[in-house]
Amino acid sequence: MRNGTPVPQSHAIYPGSFDPPTNGHLDVIARSSAIFPIVTVAVVVNPQKRSPLFTLDEREEMLRRCTKELSNVRVDHFRGLLADYVRRIGADVIVKGLRVVSDFENEMAAAHMNRSLSNVDTMFLMSDSSYSFVSSSLIKEVFLQGGDIARYVPDVVLEFMQQKRQTHGRK
Ligand code: PNS
Repeated sequence: MRNGTPVPQSHAIYPGSFDPPTNGHLDVIARSSAIFPIVTVAVVVNPQKRSPLFTLDEREEMLRRCTKELSNVRVDHFRGLLADYVRRIGADVIVKGLRVVSDFENEMAAAHMNRSLSNVDTMFLMSDSSYSFVSSSLIKEVFLQGGDIARYVPDVVLEFMQQKRQTHGRK
């Protein structure tokens, strides 16, 4: 596969919590959309993460607005197993971003499990080095303590976060 040459017939799925989407996520989405003809960005409804900052609808809305220029990217959500969802929508490949080496251990196990369950491979994109330390959880922590996160999230996400802080009455 050459850079910029789409892989024919492939429908990629990029799953995640996206609570909230960061510039690191958007970088992976943009690079995936240059490789694959169709990319579904899928927000997981994750019962293990009990108190997300953003509702499912808000996360989907932020992703839709941030990806509106990418015509081959669609945004969706799923409950339950990723492997079942992948089969249901007929995706051929799962895309994940790797920020640091320590991400790899869990991701390798997940990739094996998902391939075993659905026969779909996972392809990893190395996060851009400028985002290697950017995660949704750190963004939330810094923002809710009054830190400046404007460099790390799209403008749309910053607006949603500022609204959320007003609603919650936090500084
Ligand atoms: O952004 P996140 O929270 O790191 O994304 C994790 C995600 C959504 C990729 C993972 O939690 C997932 O796939 N959840 C769906 C449930 C599932 O299939 N679990 C088994 C994974 S092998």
